[in-house]
Amino acid sequence: MHFLIRPAAIHDAELTVPGDKSVSHRAVMLGSIAEGITEVRGFLAGEDCLATIGAFRNMGVAIEQPKPTELVIHGVGLRGLQAPDCELDLGNSGTAMRLMAGVLAGQAFSATLTGDESLTGRPMQRIITPLCRMGAGIESRDGKPPLGIRGNPSLAAIDYVLPMASAQVKSAVLLAGLYAQGRTTVTEPAVTRDHTERMLRAMGVTVGNNDRRIDVEGPATLRACPVQVPADLSSAAFVILAALLADNADVLIRDVGVNPTRTGVLDILRAMGGAITLENPRDTGEEPVADIRARSSRLRGIEVDPGLVSLAIDEFPVLFVAAAAADGITRFTGIGELRVKESDRIAAMATGLRTLGIRVEESDDGADVHGGTFSRGVVESFGDHRIAMSLAVAGTVADGPVTVRDVAAVETSFPGFEACLASLGADISHQAEGPA
Ligand code: S3P
Repeated sequence: MHFLIRPAAIHDAELTVPGDKSVSHRAVMLGSIAEGITEVRGFLAGEDCLATIGAFRNMGVAIEQPKPTELVIHGVGLRGLQAPDCELDLGNSGTAMRLMAGVLAGQAFSATLTGDESLTGRPMQRIITPLCRMGAGIESRDGKPPLGIRGNPSLAAIDYVLPMASAQVKSAVLLAGLYAQGRTTVTEPAVTRDHTERMLRAMGVTVGNNDRRIDVEGPATLRACPVQVPADLSSAAFVILAALLADNADVLIRDVGVNPTRTGVLDILRAMGGAITLENPRDTGEEPVADIRARSSRLRGIEVDPGLVSLAIDEFPVLFVAAAAADGITRFTGIGELRVKESDRIAAMATGLRTLGIRVEESDDGADVHGGTFSRGVVESFGDHRIAMSLAVAGTVADGPVTVRDVAAVETSFPGFEACLASLGADISHQAEGPA
């Protein structure tokens, strides 16, 4: 499927976006190994999180879904998972694979984790190394999936220094640490999203955090608690971008998660001149939430603070489009991790933006994006949801129609994206496969 976007005026709107992907995955995982019933509201019924539900059902967890956004998870306790009778297919989801590897490391059975073409090309050595050090056995294809995980019910606690800033690796080690004897500590080189730590605490587990050293004591007991999933800031970012780029728009996005380990995108866009304000800030359960207002703005190129990279890691495709629409040059540095996401996001964005007439100079771990105007064109998503949606938003202010090819992956994180963008006034339609 392709998107066809014709230039159209974005107008004032009030809306919300689907639930947070990271929090939704964790609700399923932690709810499954908790004692008692976890009721989840605001769940993201996107393909990635549905794959996580499927995997835990395959390990004997009863998970009801009375509405697409509501779950009732009948937790089986830390030791209650059962051996699956087939490979666990996690589709496109790196989060599902890396976090589940941590859970599986402590089981008394073996299981195989696999996924789609993108996921089976992604690096897993980063979790294999610490989990094997704790005592799990993991077979891979040269550090890539499928992963054959031989669980070890008596894992050893470790003190692990993460070689890269990654919430997925941090979470994998902490989840394995729930099963280990003693204190497992993870030190991160930069702060990354802390949803695992927050949800564990809400479920009664003591999680220490002292200057980027995070620890849990195993074996731990998780007690089920209600989970309210906030709207996903990473999805809201596309709406914020559309509003900022528009000629005259004022858009309010309600109930968005504004956990400070995720809000780097807001800081960077504000530094570029974006008019973004948070209204009605509040806590829903363990996650802070606010309504976000974004107004049309004249953006200017900046040197993006590399200290904000781990706090905005999924929003760089959005930021590349903002940079392309800004006055002057925007310099991104320290973003090498983008090369191992659902696609090589530096290359994918550079290719797409160049096709739309924007000058981009790439380096190994960065890029200079020269502001300009988007011309019409046909661009590739490289099968990556965030590339597809970012380029679709660029299309709203291009000087002719933009086709974004191969956008099926949008369903992994933002079901209803097309309708959401249309509700802002965008002229977006989809076309079946075939020549664009
Ligand atoms: C995520 C962590 C990030 C992010 C991903 C979701 C998570 O990955 O890119 O979309 O839910 O923990 P890394 O930890 O690999 O940076």
